[in-house]
Amino acid sequence: MDFEPIKDRSGRHATKWDSMQAFCGLTPDSAIAMWVADMDFDAAPCIKAALQGEIDNGFLGYFGNPGPVNDAICTWMAERHGWQVQPEWLRYSHGVVSGFAMVLEAFSDPGDAIILFTPVYHAFFTKARAMDREILQSRLELRDGQYHMDLDALAGRLTGRERIVTLCSPHNPGGRLWTADELRELAEFCDTHDLILCSDEIHMDLAFPGARHIPTATAAPGATPRLVTITAASKGFNIAGGETGFAIIEDTDLRARFDAAHKKMGGTPNRFGMLMTKAAFTEGADWSEAVRAYLAGNFALWRDRIGALPGVAVMDMACTYLTWVDFSGTGMPPEETTARLHGAGIAMSPGAQFGDGGENWHRFNIAMPRPLLEQAVARVESAFSDLQ
Ligand SMILES: Cc1ncc(COP(=O)(O)O)c(C=O)c1O
Repeated sequence: MDFEPIKDRSGRHATKWDSMQAFCGLTPDSAIAMWVADMDFDAAPCIKAALQGEIDNGFLGYFGNPGPVNDAICTWMAERHGWQVQPEWLRYSHGVVSGFAMVLEAFSDPGDAIILFTPVYHAFFTKARAMDREILQSRLELRDGQYHMDLDALAGRLTGRERIVTLCSPHNPGGRLWTADELRELAEFCDTHDLILCSDEIHMDLAFPGARHIPTATAAPGATPRLVTITAASKGFNIAGGETGFAIIEDTDLRARFDAAHKKMGGTPNRFGMLMTKAAFTEGADWSEAVRAYLAGNFALWRDRIGALPGVAVMDMACTYLTWVDFSGTGMPPEETTARLHGAGIAMSPGAQFGDGGENWHRFNIAMPRPLLEQAVARVESAFSDLQ
């Protein structure tokens, strides 16, 4: 497993590279893509082999009998995450964001509100707004360099129209691994205020060596009657193009309500996504360990160098490759930090897109060969060299 080779990914329908110009005006010939949450690594050999086998076999029609994929998921969740998932609790979606849309459809109506802990993954906003849901942004509190949920403040802001709390666990941006206590407190909050808890755990397989993601379901077994977990193999194994996510719903009544939405919005699963998911979870453990160790090395490099820039603070993290960097100490407005980064050929995600509290931050995807990351680090350093 060699993550070092730098491959030109442009011209191959990679959103991260081929949509960069539309996103921020920069072009792949001169800029480094640090926005979309894909890794610039080849997929695991077991995944390529699974796809190759399918191509060789030649049948590319509708996908049926998900049983072996269900089994792969259940075994992975038990062995890796200590959660005994039963096959009948699983429902597939066309990516995790469409699973999120099904949660909105199943458990809320237009005009209802959903709660997001911000700054958070931007597609929650776009999807909720497209479905005419209000958003109550509960700003995460920054304490000791880490985000914390302020449930007391949130309780005081509830209007009675809230139906769903969406937690991003691990958190994007910044890779926060929520503790069992925090997850339990959130579950109790949902119980007290009669809210559905939607736990998006798509980043579950990206904890660095020595760190651990805790599924909300295992931390808070009492949450079962109101808990929907949405997740995928896609982030941990870099196979998001397979557009395959799954919901895990233990409670029978909740599942029936989700199924009604699934009937409206779902469809036959994507053949390639299902086969990649199965290969990842049955044969991909070694690759997963290796990539997580490599990402931890990338993060150490990034934190040490970028965190050393005066006025720039890198949030510490033990999971994901989506680093979250605070530029407020530079005294510069976001327009200026954005202009400087773009001027240096860095296509990052501007912090404002993650909601309240993200305005003076930017998100940088560091999942790339280390020699390329070295170049990116040097560019960011040069953009702020006058601060030295
Ligand atoms: C928290 C979170 N949920 C969902 C997604 C995307 O899911 P999908 O591409 O499967 O719809 C992302 C992508 O980065 C994410 O960070």
